[in-house]
Amino acid sequence: MTDSNSAQAAGSAPVLEVKDLVVTFGAGSSAVTVLKGVNASISRGQTLGIVGESGSGKSTLAKAIVGLVHASSGSILVDGIDVGRMTGPQRRDMRRKVQMIPQDPYSSLNPRRTIGQTLAEAIDPVRSSPMLHREKIEYWLSTIRLDADVASRYPHEFSGGQRQRIAVARALAVEPRLIIADEITSALDLSVQAELLNLVGRLRRELDLTMAFISHDLDVVHHVSDSIMVLYNGDVVEAGSVDAVYQNPQDPYTRKLIDSVPGGPGFDIG
Ligand SMILES: Nc1ncnc2c1ncn2[C@@H]1O[C@H](COP(=O)(O)OP(=O)(O)OP(=O)(O)O)[C@@H](O)[C@H]1O
Ligand SMILES: [Mg+2]
Repeated sequence: MTDSNSAQAAGSAPVLEVKDLVVTFGAGSSAVTVLKGVNASISRGQTLGIVGESGSGKSTLAKAIVGLVHASSGSILVDGIDVGRMTGPQRRDMRRKVQMIPQDPYSSLNPRRTIGQTLAEAIDPVRSSPMLHREKIEYWLSTIRLDADVASRYPHEFSGGQRQRIAVARALAVEPRLIIADEITSALDLSVQAELLNLVGRLRRELDLTMAFISHDLDVVHHVSDSIMVLYNGDVVEAGSVDAVYQNPQDPYTRKLIDSVPGGPGFDIG
């Protein structure tokens, strides 16, 4: 974890800082505290892998970062701006700065828009004509290894894996400061998962992406992350570089996750 004060002193404040974040749903006797004082930080060009079993609070953390869930206490800073205290213009700006790639490749793209229209809107929501942005659209399609002519097609004409790649391109086309990928491989077959992970692994190096990559599967996360945070029942039980977490896990739950990673070929990420 980056010490935010020393990072700021060095002139490289983290893109994301989560400080003592508590999220409680409901009130009174039905109140449930889902995040119990989470701290996290992501520096520019870095990917933080967030792992934890179902119900541990991963998506709640993702939603809090994009402002869909309110912090009960603590704070979330994106580029130093507290997402809980933004002005109207800051909020509009933030909707582009932080891009979430959701899990479901079938609901994440508008079925009535061509791929070109979807990408044009990501590139420029005001002047969102595919003709105006043809070159950029071709560029983003090439980054996900799709031909330029797919721009005129609709989401239903693509496989789940292709749609998820298009969802990645849509998020990238906004040129966000921070990308949040929440279980983006879990709806896909294993071989397609590996393809998507390879793509994300390549893009994060080529484009120097800053990302939070969420999965319940440590094997998936560790291939694309610089550091890893393990959530267990709303608490951070482990945080550190990928190597440190793998070689010297501090928490028995992390050890269990590492041991449960099956042997064999795994994902072949270059
Ligand atoms: N709006 C809400 N109101 C009440 N409880 C909620 C709400 N959203 C989430 N929860 C609860 O918070 C806990 C954490 O949910 P969350 O979706 O963050 O887990 P997750 O780690 O993303 O799980 P999964 O791997 O299944 O996606 C769960 O027990 C869930 O039922
Ligand atoms: Mg989730």
